[in-house]
Amino acid sequence: MHQFHYVDGALHCEQVPLSSLAAEVGTPFYCYSHQTLTSHLSAFQKAFAPVDHLVCFSVKVNSNLAILSTLFGRGAGADIVSGGELYRALKAGADPKKIVYSGVGKREDEIRYALQAGILMFNVESPLEAVTINRVAEEVGEIAHISLRINPDVDPMTHPYISTGLKKNKFGIAIDRALVEYREARTLSSVRVVGVDCHIGSQITQLSPFVDALAKLKELVHTLRSEGFDIRYLDIGGGLGIPYSDETPPLPSEYGRAVIDAVGDLGCTLVTEPGRVIAGNAGVLVSRVLYTKEGEEKRFLICDAAMNDLVRPSLYGSFHDIRPLVQAPETITADLVGPICESTDFLAKDRRLADLQPGDLFAVMSAGAYGFIMGSNYNSRTRVPEVLVQGDRWWVVRKRETYEDLVRGETIPKELG
Ligand code: LLP
Repeated sequence: MHQFHYVDGALHCEQVPLSSLAAEVGTPFYCYSHQTLTSHLSAFQKAFAPVDHLVCFSVKVNSNLAILSTLFGRGAGADIVSGGELYRALKAGADPKKIVYSGVGKREDEIRYALQAGILMFNVESPLEAVTINRVAEEVGEIAHISLRINPDVDPMTHPYISTGLKKNKFGIAIDRALVEYREARTLSSVRVVGVDCHIGSQITQLSPFVDALAKLKELVHTLRSEGFDIRYLDIGGGLGIPYSDETPPLPSEYGRAVIDAVGDLGCTLVTEPGRVIAGNAGVLVSRVLYTKEGEEKRFLICDAAMNDLVRPSLYGSFHDIRPLVQAPETITADLVGPICESTDFLAKDRRLADLQPGDLFAVMSAGAYGFIMGSNYNSRTRVPEVLVQGDRWWVVRKRETYEDLVRGETIPKELG
């Protein structure tokens, strides 16, 4: 469910017509619905209400401070993967005791920062990382709480670039090695083992991969406890998919029920790291058609948004629905492309679309997750503004970059010949 809908033929975000935002801030821009975000978060929290739980929003998905602050203000914690994300999370008011830190390549300075901030736990992805965390913890005089991220070797049946829980992926510690590595971690004096973690992939549209992974983790928790480990947290990662077109992923309530059925009786605090399911359908990218062009074989709609603004179609071949801001039937087939000098620069390919003309506005739907955040300045394009809507009110929560922003931090050395 989301709050982008037509009212009298005009696409609105909550009560604000997107065309009026376009007139105020120019195009392209991202627009987020506050109500969609908060209702998704509360559906997720409700799904886990029967058990002790912590919902840690995955900051990599959308790390705008206003979005983070909205979610943290409603009880969410944060799943982070870098010092930069920790900085953002703290700035947006996250409770450090609700922050979990994942990622295969944590640097010493990042580990130190997280220890000093007093985060809940590190999700450790390799034996050497545990040794490094131990050393840094010793230096700063802290005890680092850790879970080992287990790679359960389960196929999440999603795009190969976003599968993370298979043997061939770089993530986590192979389940067959888990016990050995837990015993090893126990010998480290500045580390306390408190949990088990896993994350098998993203945009997962079936329950079975989650259930299969959880069965393996459950067995591991029993084994660890029989060896005296005090396993208090079970972090099951994120990954629940959303409808981009005709997918029918499980609802948060169904997902919650399946998880609780599988592992609810372990008595662990269930940590979840949802991202896409909270923010994906809470945001759109609004753009304007610049030109139409009849190619030899195809019709092109050339617009002012490009792969630097939303890379998912180019990178994964992802489908994003395209909706005209003024409701119209889909009467043409065309490629919707951006101005970037690459043939991979498209938002939609061979798509049935409304017969948009130069100047017409449209929204790229379901762009709230991995949208703005994966943007870049490629082709020296300024990054676009982000707007947050709540009811009939709205705010620019990130300004459009300027040409000065593009060269900030660059210098031409005087000595350069
Ligand atoms: N936890 C960990 C450890 C993760 O690596 C991820 C996502 C999440 C949680 C959140 O997963 P979600 O609930 O959003 O599925 N850029 C790709 C997706 C990459 C996913 C990376 N990890 C895309 O645009 O589809």
